[in-house]
Amino acid sequence: MSKLTAPAVRALKVRSGADPIVMLTAYDAPGARIVDEAGADLILVGDSVAMVVLGFDDTLQVTIDDMAHHVAAVARAKPRALVIGDMPWLSYHVSVQDSVRNAARLMKAGAQAVKLEGGAKRVPMIEAIIDAEMPVMGHIGLTPQSLHAFGGYKVQGRNQAAALALVADAQALQSAGCFAIVLECVPDEVARMVTDAVDVPTIGIGAGPHTDGQVLVYHDVLGIEDRITPKFVRRYGSLKEQSVAALTAFASDVRNCRFPSETESYHLSSEAAEAMGLYGSATKTA
Ligand code: KIV
Repeated sequence: MSKLTAPAVRALKVRSGADPIVMLTAYDAPGARIVDEAGADLILVGDSVAMVVLGFDDTLQVTIDDMAHHVAAVARAKPRALVIGDMPWLSYHVSVQDSVRNAARLMKAGAQAVKLEGGAKRVPMIEAIIDAEMPVMGHIGLTPQSLHAFGGYKVQGRNQAAALALVADAQALQSAGCFAIVLECVPDEVARMVTDAVDVPTIGIGAGPHTDGQVLVYHDVLGIEDRITPKFVRRYGSLKEQSVAALTAFASDVRNCRFPSETESYHLSSEAAEAMGLYGSATKTA
């Protein structure tokens, strides 16, 4: 299969007969290879790296340097999926010029598009980034970089005014030129309203089934992160549990002198062993 492009993704609307888009996060080369081999359409190098990889309590702590570092690692895997670099907090809030330069950092690191959070108020930044030839994915609803402004991780669009504001934001992002829009933590009826109101695909996370695609965080899907499970996460693996069991078995083998075995060790040739005055133990060539 050939590599997906942002213009190709823009056309993937379920109501036009497209299959739902599959997006997963990845933050390093092995993760990108796994996601790509699983057939995902899009890889988001999300600022969720702050929480699931770097151990921070929220996404506000990562910088454009951190994001470029992780985008570059993902890009080195040369995935077929489109690689989208997430713009971190404050990388597109201060000025339009900064926003373009920071988006370019992620593109130079290997992203083929960038994502940023916010609706109509981000239009000047989005237009400038697109004008500099970089595709932009929007992100509305619960935007985690607005954690403190929202007063917590709260479902958005729960009343008519808020739902209509989300529709207006999505339309503003589409008019600004976004090729797709992430919709996070909104009631499924509102996700349907937004999806019906725009021609670009919506990709939901905690937004129910009526979007043009779904995204989940790698560590959540695989059960590597098992401390919190948001309602919208479905676990398809329990890698944390399996990893702890595997590493416990390794520790036990080491402590009980069961690792390494003969076959897991290198050996001198019998001639070399003999020349060194060692007899009996050397049977194989390294
Ligand atoms: O950073 C991230 O992982 C995201 C997704 C949850 C959409 O923004």
